[in-house]
Amino acid sequence: MSGWSHRHVIDLAAFSLADYATVLELAQRFRALPLSGARRLPALQGRLMTSLFIEPSTRTRSSFELAARRLSADVQSFSPAASSLSKGESLLDTARTYVAMGANVLVVRHRCAGVPHTLARDLDRCGERVAVLNAGDGLHSHPSQGLLDLFTLARQFSPAAPTPEALRGKRIVIVGDVLHSRVARSNLWALTACGASVVLCGPPTLLPQQFAAFVAAPPPGQRQDPVAERGSIEISRSLEQALPGADAVMTLRLQKERMHQQLLTSLDRYHRQFGLSHRRLELCGRAVPVLHPGPVNRGVELAGELLDDPKHSLVEEQVRNGIPIRMALLYLLAAAEGPPPAATPAGDGLKAV
Ligand code: NCD
Repeated sequence: MSGWSHRHVIDLAAFSLADYATVLELAQRFRALPLSGARRLPALQGRLMTSLFIEPSTRTRSSFELAARRLSADVQSFSPAASSLSKGESLLDTARTYVAMGANVLVVRHRCAGVPHTLARDLDRCGERVAVLNAGDGLHSHPSQGLLDLFTLARQFSPAAPTPEALRGKRIVIVGDVLHSRVARSNLWALTACGASVVLCGPPTLLPQQFAAFVAAPPPGQRQDPVAERGSIEISRSLEQALPGADAVMTLRLQKERMHQQLLTSLDRYHRQFGLSHRRLELCGRAVPVLHPGPVNRGVELAGELLDDPKHSLVEEQVRNGIPIRMALLYLLAAAEGPPPAATPAGDGLKAV
């Protein structure tokens, strides 16, 4: 794909506007194809995707595996409890074992931030030709979720042409546990790259003031920001102030598994202050879409009736859009690795069989 230069996808901080446009355009093409059951694209025939999930997952893992199958790739799945990791083997040695079996892409989820990055660097040093795709590392980054959220919003604002441009000038409110959320961090890189004005809303214990400067400097390891001009980030402590004029609201799960101290007095109180309901949403001044990456704590981040209301809730749409987004990422990474894809009349393996 012209202009695409990433060997691995670890963090959206490394994405240029052209990278976002490439992923969204491919995802839109994949989304338009009636792929199910035996109808697949031959694009990644002969390629192998291995999912190494060393942290629980429902959506992300199944979505990657389905995406790989729809591109005719082979899929191999690793379960940590039943593996040699539990006998003391290092993750690098485990990964190299799968590369020796022919893996072209390793989709990695780990509870510690930085593991996919270190793994990619070490595999490169060993001379292994394999791509690493981060499926969520600690509270650091979740690039495929950030991209599927971007795609979902772009399709909402501009159904005929869901490009990064569709986000320019939009006011997107992200509410909840920003501190522990890799989804929020990936969304901050993606949304500001596309020129959106992001309003982060939450209590100081879950949203430190420093997030206002999150994209102000290039992240560690990068000399400069690949995006010339970014949208803004504002911090708000009250939904009543954040919601008026919003174009979309993204809610985040309270990541209790990552809270090592008491950061909330009560869930009930949190819901009263920061939970989203139909009544609260009226503050936006018009009907706006609501997103949540899932899994949802019903009645905490989001009232159950709002989650189930198709007039507002894009939660199922996010899940649907995850598949074409992950197909796009796998295609961009795996098509560059290993033997060339099977020849088809379309030339690039993008015609359904
Ligand atoms: C998110 C994750 O794992 O970071 N879930 C997901 O991938 N859909 C968000 C969460 O766990 O709250």
